[in-house]
Amino acid sequence: MKNFFVKILIFMLITSCSGEKKQKEVIVPNKAWWKEAIVYQIYPRSFKDSDGDGIGDLKGIIEKLDYIKSLGVTMVWLNPFYQSPNVDNGYDVSDYKAILPEFGTMEDFDALVKGLHERDIKFVLDVVVNHSSDQHEWFKQARSSRDNPYRDYYHWWPAEKGKPNYRYSLFDAKGDAWQYDSITNSYYLHYFAKEQPDLNWENQKVRNEVYDIMQFWADKGVDGFRLDAFQFAAKDTTFPKFPEGFEKDFIQYYAMQDGLHDYLKEMNEQVFSKYDVMSVAEGAGRNFQEAHELVDSERKELNVAYAFDAVDIAKPEGYSFSHFKEVFTKWDKEFSKKGWLSIFLSNHDQARLVSRFGNDSPEFREASSKMLNTFLLSMRGTPFLYYGDEIGMTNINFDSISQYKDVAAINGYKKAASEGADMIKFMSDLNFASRDNGRTPMQWDSSENANFTSGTPWLPVNENHKSINVFTENSNPNSILNHFKKMVKLRKEHEVLIYGDYELLAAENPDIYAYTRTLNNEKVLVLLNFTNHDSSIELTEIGAINEPLINNYSTVEVNKNNIQLKPYQAIIFKLN
Ligand code: NOJ
Repeated sequence: MKNFFVKILIFMLITSCSGEKKQKEVIVPNKAWWKEAIVYQIYPRSFKDSDGDGIGDLKGIIEKLDYIKSLGVTMVWLNPFYQSPNVDNGYDVSDYKAILPEFGTMEDFDALVKGLHERDIKFVLDVVVNHSSDQHEWFKQARSSRDNPYRDYYHWWPAEKGKPNYRYSLFDAKGDAWQYDSITNSYYLHYFAKEQPDLNWENQKVRNEVYDIMQFWADKGVDGFRLDAFQFAAKDTTFPKFPEGFEKDFIQYYAMQDGLHDYLKEMNEQVFSKYDVMSVAEGAGRNFQEAHELVDSERKELNVAYAFDAVDIAKPEGYSFSHFKEVFTKWDKEFSKKGWLSIFLSNHDQARLVSRFGNDSPEFREASSKMLNTFLLSMRGTPFLYYGDEIGMTNINFDSISQYKDVAAINGYKKAASEGADMIKFMSDLNFASRDNGRTPMQWDSSENANFTSGTPWLPVNENHKSINVFTENSNPNSILNHFKKMVKLRKEHEVLIYGDYELLAAENPDIYAYTRTLNNEKVLVLLNFTNHDSSIELTEIGAINEPLINNYSTVEVNKNNIQLKPYQAIIFKLN
């Protein structure tokens, strides 16, 4: 155990009167299981392929249920697995009650949920109802004639009225959200790709269809709903002109439009209130007030806010650490009394956690991955952790557009090229930020294709799987994976990490993120060095520091009030 010697120069300063100290009764207001949940997100295409077609599937996830359990997580959010032509990897649904054959069957789905439940793990369904696929029967009907009963399921603009006012599309190769359709001489609206027409939420029939779909899955036992792009669902259907250049800040014009809260209230009445489920929408409005309006419990809409302010900070040129602290601190403050947040820094729409917010060089990948996981699991809010981050998977180094599979990358490239953009910069930004970075297959071991598939993987497996993989990490007690598991366990064992008040310390420290979490008489101190060099922090009046609850190094130097941290060191102390 000598290697584990903790070089603590001053501490173990247990309060002198500890003998007399009475355990106060711990009072935690507004507890809820979904506040205590630890969500693990799985991108089904990339987790585990059971049949050799190169595409991950439900049976593959079933094979890995014990692995998921071993992580200690309590919920799994699975990205869409419905019938889909896969223009946007399942976010273009053509049948909301059917399973994409590449992923398996409804029996497989039932077996997956059963297997999770047997292991006390809940399941979150991804509900994609801002838009459907253009191959959905509703859209096929709607586009067939202007008087088809399904016509009003979508947004149409008759071409004889001229071109509708410009709307920006996130994934369109021309950036235009209006697609002309010659069958009825009309335009239809698609905020995402042209194969993803937006549903018309003003139509009660559409809303009823959605509630029926959600009830179908709730009756099958799903425990949570994640509403994709839902803050865009309500629209001003007179389609007024927006100011020139609005697309640079399109969220201001697209999010939280009139009607959205009514739809959420109705959805709550029709679905959420009838089941014991967690509800979370992608996006949390345009400001704190709107975020609250989505999740304050007395409003009876959603229960967890999923805000993008923090995740959006990382840019190819780096990010401002002080801004990072400021964003998390502000959000926590705004939600300290009411409402509940999710905590995340990665998902299937982002590049890899360690490559964006840490340091994926061989020297620092391990320490910085552990540090980031410590952060995510020690903040107030439900952590949403993304598959692969528990072993520190990194970005993949694609250099040609032909290697990318993501519709956003491919159409973004076409758009940039047609606008005469600097394509060298475009490709280097894509290399850093592309969503495909976060979608490469899970690295199970060092064998060919990381044992993700026996066939040809739909997206290349990262070459670094030879050293970065579950098998190797499992057998090393000091691995990122084992640190992740310890941190999950710690969160579950210490209610203070879930419900405790958060207080930022030494805000101006340029290297270290320091905060305390306090719940009744329990207090912990979290110290995270976000840099690749040694750094120190002076802390006064924090009370006595005990032995670390967790540390990603074997030692730490504490000298009076000065604590010295190694590069990317992450440490949590219990305070007295
Ligand atoms: C948000 C999802 O997270 C993303 O993956 C998808 O492309 C868009 N919504 C459209 O559904």
